[in-house]
Amino acid sequence: MANISLIVGSLRRESINLKIAKALIKLAQQENLPHQFNLVDIANLPLYNEDLWEDIPEAVSQFKITIKNTDALLFVTPEYNRSVPSPLKNALDWGSRPSDDNSWKHKPAAMLGASPGQIGTAVAQSHLRSILLTLNTRVMGQPEIYLKFEESMLNDNNEIASERTRQFLLKFLNKFNEWIDDVKPLNA
Ligand code: FNR
Repeated sequence: MANISLIVGSLRRESINLKIAKALIKLAQQENLPHQFNLVDIANLPLYNEDLWEDIPEAVSQFKITIKNTDALLFVTPEYNRSVPSPLKNALDWGSRPSDDNSWKHKPAAMLGASPGQIGTAVAQSHLRSILLTLNTRVMGQPEIYLKFEESMLNDNNEIASERTRQFLLKFLNKFNEWIDDVKPLNA
C-alpha cells in the first residue's frame, strides 16, 4: 500500500480542486486501490524567507518530515495567471531547502487540476512539471488530466458524477500506482 501525500494548490474552503482531491480519495477507497492518501496542509507554511532557517518554524519542520516519510506525491492544483498558485510554489520551495536536504528528492509524483477555463490548468501543470524535474522528483508523464470544471462534475455526495470521468480518473490512479512501483527500484 502506497502512502501518498496529496497536495492541493488552492487554500480556498470551497476549492473545486479540493473537492476533486476528496472525490479521488473516495474513489480510491470505493475501488479498493492500494493508496493511502494524506491531505497535506500547506496553508500554515510561512512565506518562504531564507532567514527563517535560523529558527525553523514548526510548520516547516513538520512539512518536511511529512514529505520525507511519504512514498509518493499527488498534486491537485488550480492555475493562477497561467502558472502554479503561489501557496503551492511556496510549499515546493520550503521542501527544496536546505539544498543538501531536498525533501522531494526521488519521490514519484503525479498531477492533475481543474479550472472553469477551457484548457483546464494545462499551463500551470506544464510549469509544475518543470519545477518537479528541478526538484529531482520522478514525475509521471502520462496520463495527463486537465479537467474543465462544471458543477455537474460532482454529485450531491461530492463524488465524481460522470461514469466516463470516473473511469478516466481510475485509470490515472492505477497508472500512478504502476509508476510508483516502476520507480521503486531506482530509489532502492
Ligand atoms: C484564476 N483563475 C484562472 N483560471 C485559469 O484557468 N487560468 C488562469 O490563469 C487563472 N488565473 C487565476 C488567477 C487568480 C489569482 C485566481 C484567483 C483565479 C480562475 C480559477 O481557475 C478559479 O478561480 C478556480 O476556481 C480556482 O481553483 P479552486 O480555488 O476553486 O480550486
